[in-house]
Amino acid sequence: MNKLYFGDNLEILREMPDERVHLICTDPPFNSGRDYNTFLGDSLAQKKAFTDTWTWDTAAQDARADIEQRAFSSDTYKALDTCLKGYDLVLQNAVSGNKGAMRAYLTFMGSRLAEMHRVLTSEGSIYLHCDPTASHYLKGVMDAIWDQENHSKNASFRNEIVWSYRRWPAKHPNFQRMHDIILRYAKGTNVTWNQLYEPKPASTLKRFGNKKIKSAYTPDGRRVPSEVTNEESREVPLRDVWEISVIAPSAKERLGYPTQKPLALYERMIKASSNEGDIVLDPFCGCGTTIDAAHTLNRQWMGIDITILALDPMRQRLADRHGLEPSVDYQIEGYPTNMQEVQNLLKEGDKRKYHDFSNWAVTRLGLRPTKDVGDGGLDGVGHVTLWNPQQLKETNARILAEVKTGKPTITQVRAFCRVMDKNNAEVGIFITLEPVTPKMRQEAQDMGTFEHNNKTYPRLQFWQLDDAYFENPDIINTLVRLPDAWRIRPTQKSERHFDDRQMQLLRG
Ligand SMILES: C[S@@+](CC[C@H](N)C(=O)[O-])C[C@H]1O[C@@H](n2cnc3c(N)ncnc32)[C@H](O)[C@@H]1O
Repeated sequence: MNKLYFGDNLEILREMPDERVHLICTDPPFNSGRDYNTFLGDSLAQKKAFTDTWTWDTAAQDARADIEQRAFSSDTYKALDTCLKGYDLVLQNAVSGNKGAMRAYLTFMGSRLAEMHRVLTSEGSIYLHCDPTASHYLKGVMDAIWDQENHSKNASFRNEIVWSYRRWPAKHPNFQRMHDIILRYAKGTNVTWNQLYEPKPASTLKRFGNKKIKSAYTPDGRRVPSEVTNEESREVPLRDVWEISVIAPSAKERLGYPTQKPLALYERMIKASSNEGDIVLDPFCGCGTTIDAAHTLNRQWMGIDITILALDPMRQRLADRHGLEPSVDYQIEGYPTNMQEVQNLLKEGDKRKYHDFSNWAVTRLGLRPTKDVGDGGLDGVGHVTLWNPQQLKETNARILAEVKTGKPTITQVRAFCRVMDKNNAEVGIFITLEPVTPKMRQEAQDMGTFEHNNKTYPRLQFWQLDDAYFENPDIINTLVRLPDAWRIRPTQKSERHFDDRQMQLLRG
């Protein structure tokens, strides 16, 4: 069955059996030092999943030690370890700056690429999407891992595809950077391949029209057109430079996910390197472009992403474009779909899992996760412009949320009230798993009310997460009372959980 996994792909890949998937198309985070502020502000989730900045910290050092350890019993890790040691020299064993960041990035990618190699069938291929800041290093890592069996035949490296696009030019003293690199490697020599074609170039059409051309060699070894047959052919085999537009800001395809890639790009890879019924894996699947393309082309699929924020738009896209329902048409692992799963997510006491849960809970409310998750008394924030028909004017309002997974205490509620006051929040929502006490409700009463369009709303409100929510997500609208402009729409097609610009356009 088709599957989405939520979690770190290294852990999930390590649980997969050998030779399980026929094709991997993936677009990992880059080492470009770039981030996606426009989208998620300074949220923790952004830091964790969308930030392309890497440091040679203890986590990177531990990951390197792990590779070294595995090198004793695995040829793949041995090749990887040797390659990374070579790069250490090239990068002068740097522990900071760009060189330190590159070492950390290559360590992160190295172990994941080794596992991807293991889970691929012998006819399988991988398409690794890179940007020009790291593609040359990644090619070395790929050669090390993928050439072990093929080194004598040099068969594993197949293509360096240039995805060429146009976008708004940037002002800097360089040629405009308008391409990404996609590396294509095959695991074995008998690789799945379906030839794709593109229209003939204008110059060929002018000289030979639609006639099929055969070639021959001159005595000095030059290749020349020898024979023009009467068979018609308007197409030639596809080149490795692919001109595909980026997704326009207003395009229907755009889901509001910061690193979303065009469907046409991934459909091309899947068509060329897999057959119907094959399993396509994307271990960095983001908002599910590979998954969507695979489903459209009747392939089976598996997607992994670390952030719960990615699973929302993905789920929405599978429902909107293919009418697919989770648990019925595909499985989701690691994403809570009932209270038991919420408890499981939190049980392990893993701080990251708590952050993921907290992100998930606040995005249910259409809010943006904040970076203070867990301790600062603020987990989510949203702004909305409310239209006041009596005064014929708009006011800006702020809504805050805090998530508590243990037994809530009165001290925490009071701390949240202070955060609300300090941030001039109109409304605060205190999300809990356990019931709040009458004393806490009294505290909420003391926080007073908020008025809009002749209606009164409590400033501090409580949302206790329970089974009812999973059975009927719209129930939040009765549990949390907000002006119409803020109506929570957890199941609506148009929702962009992270985009509060959209919320600002709504009027109460
Ligand atoms: C460049 S984006 C992929 C975008 C995707 N191609 C699309 O069109 O939506 C990279 C993704 O990798 C995810 N990611 C980063 N580290 C990860 C990890 N260790 N395990 C799984 N996913 C990870 C991020 O959350 C992000 O969604």
